[in-house]
Amino acid sequence: MNPQAAQLNETIHKANPHVYDMLSTLGKEIYFPKLGILSQSAEAKTKAKKFNATIGTALENGTPMHLGVIQETLSAYDPKDLYEYAPAPGKPELRAAWLKKMVADNPSMAGKSFSNPIVTNALTHGLSIVADLFADSGDAVIYPDKNWENYELTFGIRRGAEIVNYPLYDETGAFNATGLKEAILAQQSKGKAIVVLNFPNNPTGYTPNAEEGRKIVEAVLAGAEAGINVIVATDDAYFSLFFEDSLHESIFGSLCGLHPRILPIKIDGATKEEYVWGFRVGFITYGGDGEHADLLAALEQKTTGIIRATISSGPHPSQTFVLRALTSPGFEEQRQEKFRVMKGRANKVKTVLDNDSYSDAWDYYPFNSGYFMCLKLKTVNAETLRQHLLEKYGIGTIALGDTDLRVAFSCIEEPGIQELFDSIYSGVKDIE
Ligand SMILES: Cc1ncc(COP(=O)(O)O)c(C=O)c1O
Repeated sequence: MNPQAAQLNETIHKANPHVYDMLSTLGKEIYFPKLGILSQSAEAKTKAKKFNATIGTALENGTPMHLGVIQETLSAYDPKDLYEYAPAPGKPELRAAWLKKMVADNPSMAGKSFSNPIVTNALTHGLSIVADLFADSGDAVIYPDKNWENYELTFGIRRGAEIVNYPLYDETGAFNATGLKEAILAQQSKGKAIVVLNFPNNPTGYTPNAEEGRKIVEAVLAGAEAGINVIVATDDAYFSLFFEDSLHESIFGSLCGLHPRILPIKIDGATKEEYVWGFRVGFITYGGDGEHADLLAALEQKTTGIIRATISSGPHPSQTFVLRALTSPGFEEQRQEKFRVMKGRANKVKTVLDNDSYSDAWDYYPFNSGYFMCLKLKTVNAETLRQHLLEKYGIGTIALGDTDLRVAFSCIEEPGIQELFDSIYSGVKDIE
């Protein structure tokens, strides 16, 4: 094993042997080269005042070389904030700004210990880093039966993990914390479980309330107390879009410092929150125990190693754009403005759906947040309906399994919502 990897492992093991045991083989072997090109170049950046001949970029007139046809459309930005490589763990100013925002948005993080957020190439990348560092073939990855399909590729196909599903809702339509707990406790023989929590949920648009949130934390704690090492990744992709009286913050904060066998990892980013889907700016943050800053630093190093080994560094222009947004005086107000638009759509969907005349065609799963809601069809097959809606009505939806049809109300302006559901209903009647 590379001595730098061995050193990181020793630090992690000394601080918390359970976290060491959570690492995958790749997680144990990865490191960020201390004396590699990036660190030598970073050192030269501060000290090489005469000639800096370290890195594979190009300079001209003291700034990064660039083409006028690109810069003329980006003239508000300094070339150094666009063309140079961003550091592998991300622009330091952006990391600081996101940390500040995260703590402000999540009061339960106050007084807790966690790492500096590391910039990822958006949330998918953050999840795949979790998979790389912690999932080995056969490890259990636990998430509900209603989920974002890409988890299957990220954890199952790419890392060979065993996917364990539990029903998202219980019989009362609340979050099924009992199902989660049973799924975790069922991993006793493996001694390890990776739990993915995604609220607001894709595809249902559900976020638990405070009581359900407490039960989720209890479920994870029960696993840890039973001797299972539990890695909990909170996928907070749709964070902040809480339209009703659900939890309005991530469960990450409540898990930090809870038990030595629990490693909380927050996956979040600008993608959906700041409506910059194509920018590819996300973050990964590790929860700590308040005592071992060196453990968090070692996990940051391992994460940066994975980034270096896969994408080397994230896109610099997007990081600059997001940083500028976060530090702009108008940011909060504009965010609120868009929140009201999204909430208006969600409310309108509820008003339209609380109409008995649809009740022979579908029920809908409880929703209170995010971009989506999901119909549970009673009489027709979801895929048949999806195709029919496309062909006859020019309406696009997502079929999930036999009965579920996901509707992204985020994409439908309020005046169109009644017609959308009327057409879906007509589509059902056409097929019946
Ligand atoms: C639950 C969930 N997590 C993560 C992502 C991926 O986000 P990103 O585009 O930032 O990779 C999505 C995107 O649809 C999602 O629905």
